[in-house]
Parts: sequence; structure tokens; C-alpha cells
Amino acid sequence: MSEIAKKPIKITETILRDAHQSLIATRMTTEQMLPIVDKMDQVGYHSVECWGGATFDASLRFLKEDPWDRLRKFRDGFKNTKLQMLFRGQNILGYRPYADDVVEYFVQKSVSNGIDIIRIFDCLNDLRNLQTAVKAAVKEKADAQVALSYTLGDAYTLEYWIDIAKKIEEMGATSICIKDMAGLLLPYKATELITALKENVSLPIQLHTHYTSGVASMTYLKAVEAGVDVIDTAMSPFALGTSQPATEVMVETFKGTPYDTGFDQNLLAEIADYFRPIRDEALDSGLLNPKNMGVNIKTLLYQVPGGMLSNLTSQLKEQHAEDKYYDVLEEVPRVRKDLGEPPLVTPSSQIVGTQAVFNVLMGERYKMVTKETKAVLSGEYGATVKPFNPEVQKKCIGDKEPITCRPADLIPDELDTLRGEMAQWSEQDEDVLTYALFPQVAVDFFKYREAQKTKVDPTVADTENKAYPV
Ligand code: CO
Repeated sequence: MSEIAKKPIKITETILRDAHQSLIATRMTTEQMLPIVDKMDQVGYHSVECWGGATFDASLRFLKEDPWDRLRKFRDGFKNTKLQMLFRGQNILGYRPYADDVVEYFVQKSVSNGIDIIRIFDCLNDLRNLQTAVKAAVKEKADAQVALSYTLGDAYTLEYWIDIAKKIEEMGATSICIKDMAGLLLPYKATELITALKENVSLPIQLHTHYTSGVASMTYLKAVEAGVDVIDTAMSPFALGTSQPATEVMVETFKGTPYDTGFDQNLLAEIADYFRPIRDEALDSGLLNPKNMGVNIKTLLYQVPGGMLSNLTSQLKEQHAEDKYYDVLEEVPRVRKDLGEPPLVTPSSQIVGTQAVFNVLMGERYKMVTKETKAVLSGEYGATVKPFNPEVQKKCIGDKEPITCRPADLIPDELDTLRGEMAQWSEQDEDVLTYALFPQVAVDFFKYREAQKTKVDPTVADTENKAYPV
């Protein structure tokens, strides 16, 4: 056993972010989370992932909560544990590329409100889209972790991953994460990948996967044996299915080995006891769909992340076309290939998924083309690992000349304009960032926030709250 392997495996707990994003559409409220923070803070986690990804959007849109306020409350509660967020490179937490000044300001405000580790990824693995965020995180003295969106396909060879990992090290990142959104990384492939990365880069390596295809715990075991430094797990009530392997199970697995975490299982049991009724409630209300809890081996075939599967289901439901589910799942890899074989992760997963739905429902491929599909084919999201299908590109964007530079180079600074647009609502510096990400949803939230202040009759406030399902 090598020297590197003889150390306790570190754990990032995901129950406050990815686990409930993957299983219950990110609907856990701050009120549900805060009472257990103190106990979670005593576990000894490497970090707690608690912000970013879809939490920002869902807080505003469905829970009528200020995501910045949630973050500050976490910071107050977690006195010993590092707080981690997920950041979509130049897309920040939104769905389009932003100007550099917005990216820099968002990083600055995330860190000043309590974030220690920023996990930054790009849906195309185009490192030019990570540059600004990584530099900003380093400047703010946060850990700048770059995540590789893991995927399968002809272009994604071991050499590809080694090459890109070396470039990340050169960029000044402080660690690397293999981000396996769909649970595609098989146990023995993990041995190969982690061994190769450990031989070629000196940064700590973290592995993030999902249980969707049923192999995740075994993948972690092999990755740990190969020297991975950190793994992402979720407390058992919100583990497995489309979420992560269970924290308690991984902790027990490594007990008495060189990788022993030293965590207290009794403390973990108390934390699990706290979350279990929240899980039961979600099952009763239908928020937690048993469909997302089992093994979906088709994910290996279609390479569709858990969150994307549930999005497709609801899109088809809206169109009364649930019987087209498997047709759409088969169209997904075809669209992906046409679009240069990108990894499927936000926002490329939504772009490919929505286009696949249109292609199937319209009865003719690319008869209806989303503005995002056109933007991808115009190079506006960055470079893909494989070329686009030229016929599809022509059908969708005509003779328009695609761009080849770093997309953000063409986006002029936007902060001042955004500040001007939302000035009447501004109560804190962070509000302009909220507005930048989700203009319409933000204004609705600002109006709601305003209305709450003038409310005197508690029964009216109560009715108002009920209008927003949690
Ligand atoms: Co994830």
C-alpha cells in the first residue's frame, strides 16, 4: 500500500445540497436544516456542501427564501466545518454565460458570506470558462476546486482526463474533483482513473458520484484504495437512488482500515434520526418519488443524470406525452452527438434534454430549435470535445459564423447595467447578483419580501405562504 493511501478518507456531506436536489427537487427549507447544524458540525466532515447548484433558484422560486440569508445562517452555525458550494463556471448558478465582472463579484460575495470551498465546473469541460472564477476564488483566499464533468464517449479517454487535470493544476486550482453526475464511473474504471491522476498531478483528488446506476459505493471503495483523497456522501435518509452513497455505510466500510474516518456512528445515527421524518414527509406528499430511489441501469446506456431524468418526466407530463419517455431517452444520446458530445450536466443536460423532447414531439428532428441549442451550435457556450454535426448546425443556425474565442470575451461588463435595472429593489449588495441570475424570479421575490414587511394581519401572511408549495 502506498504512503498516499495510508490516511483517513475525508468526507464531504451533501445532504444540505446535492442529496435533496437529487431526490426532492431541492425543496428542503432553511428552517428544516438549521436545528441539526450544530450536531453536523461535530462530525469532523472535510466539508459540508450546502449552497450553489439548484439551491439558489429553488430557494427564491419555490421557498420564497433569500439564499444569501441561508448561507449566513449556515456560517453562524457551522463553527468548525468548511462550507462548500457548487459553481457553474462562467454560468455562475444560472443558465447562461455572464460577464467577468458578475462572476468575480459573485465569488467575492459567496466567500464574504461564508463559503470556504468553491467547486467550479463547466458543462463542456472548456477550461476557458473556469478561468475567471478560479482566479477570483484564489484572490478571495477560498479553495478553488475545479471539477471535471465526467462522461463517457469516444473522446473521453484516460489521456483526455490526464491532460485536462494537468491543465487544471497549471491554472492554479487547489484541488480537482471528478464530478460524475450520472453515476457512470464503474469501480474498476475508478481504479484506473484515480491511479492515473495521482501519478500525473499533485493536487488532492475528490470524487463525486451518484447512486443512480447502483455502482457508486463500489466505485468509492476502489477509488479510495487507489488513493482518492475525499469522497462525497449523503446521510442515509437522503442517500442512494439519484443521490450519493450513504455516509454511515462508507464510514463503517473503512472502519479499522488505514482509511478509517474516525467518525462517531452514534452521532451520525442521531443526525439520521433527525432527517428521517423529513424523508417520510416527502414520501407522503409525493415530493420524493420512489421511481428515483431504485437502481436505474438505463442511466449507463443513456448517460442521463438523475436530475435530468425527473426533468424529462415533468416536461413530458406537461405535454401529456408521458408515453414518449423512452423515445426521448433514446433521442438524448443522438442530440448529444450532434452537439459535439458534451457531458450532460447543468446547463448542457437541460439543453440536450429539451431539444430531445422537441425532436420527438414535433415528429421531425430540429424542426423546432431552442435558443440554447442555437447558442451551443454557435460556440456561445464554448468549445466541445468533438465537432458539431455540420448538417444539424446548418439547419439550426444557417450561415451564421460560429465563435471560437472564450465566450465571455464577447460579453461586456454588466454589473452597472444590472444595478440600474434593479435599483428600486436593492436592500443589500447581494441583491444585484440574485437579480443577475434570475431576473424575473428575483423581482417576484423582492416584491414578496417588500409585501411581508407591511403585513400586519398574520392570517393574511399565512395564506400568502401557502401559495408557495414547499
Ligand atoms: Co451531483
